[in-house]
Amino acid sequence: MTAVATASTNSSVRSRADLGGPRAWPLLGNVPQLTGGREHLVLEEWADKYGDVYRFSVGRQPFIAVADPDMARSMLRLRPDGLKRAMRHELFEGIGLQGVFSAEGDEWRRQRKLVMPAFKPSQLRAAVPSFAPITERLVRVLDAAAASGESVDALDLMKRYTVDITTQLVFGIDLNTLEKIDNTLQASIHIIFEGAGARVRAPYPYWRYIKLPADYRLEQAIAHVREVVLKIIETTRAKLAGDPEAEPQNLLEAMLTDTESGEKPMSNDEMRGNLITLLLAGEDTTSNTLTWVLHYMCAQPEMQRKMQEEADRVLPNSEQIQDFDEVVRLQYCEAVIQEALRRRSAAPFMFLQALKDLEVDGLRVDKGTYLALLNRRIAMKETAFGEPERYWAERWLEDERPAGCPHNSKSQLAFGGGPRICPGRGLALLEARMALAAICKRFTLSTAPGSGPVEEVYAFAMHPKGVHITVRRR
Ligand code: HEM
Repeated sequence: MTAVATASTNSSVRSRADLGGPRAWPLLGNVPQLTGGREHLVLEEWADKYGDVYRFSVGRQPFIAVADPDMARSMLRLRPDGLKRAMRHELFEGIGLQGVFSAEGDEWRRQRKLVMPAFKPSQLRAAVPSFAPITERLVRVLDAAAASGESVDALDLMKRYTVDITTQLVFGIDLNTLEKIDNTLQASIHIIFEGAGARVRAPYPYWRYIKLPADYRLEQAIAHVREVVLKIIETTRAKLAGDPEAEPQNLLEAMLTDTESGEKPMSNDEMRGNLITLLLAGEDTTSNTLTWVLHYMCAQPEMQRKMQEEADRVLPNSEQIQDFDEVVRLQYCEAVIQEALRRRSAAPFMFLQALKDLEVDGLRVDKGTYLALLNRRIAMKETAFGEPERYWAERWLEDERPAGCPHNSKSQLAFGGGPRICPGRGLALLEARMALAAICKRFTLSTAPGSGPVEEVYAFAMHPKGVHITVRRR
């Protein structure tokens, strides 16, 4: 990888002008094609048509799309000094989401250091017992569905599960959205997610000039979440002041008592921005992935049977994971999740922007140019993974993968890469395995009668639409 601060004069270096790409409309660019929750699919279709590196534009903003695995990985490593996350900053400010996800440069370095201790393996290991009651609750909800015979909206259920787990880990608070159907915090988080998705897709920040009913709803939801989170921070600070020697019990306490990073502690505002960031980053991505797994368990009964056998082996005498060592033994289950991350990535693409003139693997990227890294398309290449279209968990298990079948795990970019790789990936894999082990131990799932085809929809993250399941006790 080469990255230089000035444009190259080398004629073998391509620039944006040399690239092919879809025809752009005057002023709007390719915005009209990138709508309706299908934007990731359109970007991938263009890669089929124009190749691994092509150009397009959003309004007047020049974009280069990259589906070349080496080039994408090189680009991910050029952060934070060469490339930044391209998100609308007015979006984050309005939503109270300023935190490690939106920060850049030295500010990002500082916040990342302050947030990371909370995701240490020892912290996750210690959290397992506090997650067990939430998994038990998930089983109770499914038990009720099994008894009534009613079908379950899998995405809704998984969102409740992941929001409960994330608030437990982040704040040490058990929200119980799983059983309290009408939980206002979860509803507010949902509104923020939908609103953020709509704003990301809007061609310009109209909400600065005119507010639609959806914008008022979004503002109310933001105010609600901010108020709740601030109260939690204040209560936790007071608790820690009363017992300064106590070991941190959750992520908030770990951040408030940090002494390892050597950084200036976060202000209340920064803390709040980061906590909301973690709540949002942790909820939809994980629930979407889990819902795809449930969908494939119904579609592939043999895979489901193998997951059940593994759950029986790992949990011979209990219904729940109680210990981190049990989680580690769920290797088939992990393969199933990895395959959902590859095939149905919650983050199928990522937008970055060049902070200076760069040259990356033979491509000149002028300062200000936007990049769309097509993570999912990269993981769908024949050269990266054999039979890429097929959802095939066994590919992740060395003993079961046929010799010679391409398998390049570096092309799995579902959690991003480089210094800004998702810090929550360990947590996501942990909570997903805990939920799946409990489900497999007790139930057999099938697609609810009358269900239509399941579709991919992009709204800030990509989720499955139409996963309805019926549950039978084993
Ligand atoms: C299946 C679940 C998840 C997926 C697919 C996912 C995916 C991603 C991706 C693609 C990024 C961008 C990485 C990059 O820029 O290279 C990211 C960043 C991030 N994720 Fe996750 N994530 C998941 C779960 C979580 C969880 C559970 C948390 C925390 C509770 C979390 C917190 C974050 C944060 C804080 C960042 C920003 C990191 C930074 O900019 O330094 N994520 N995630």
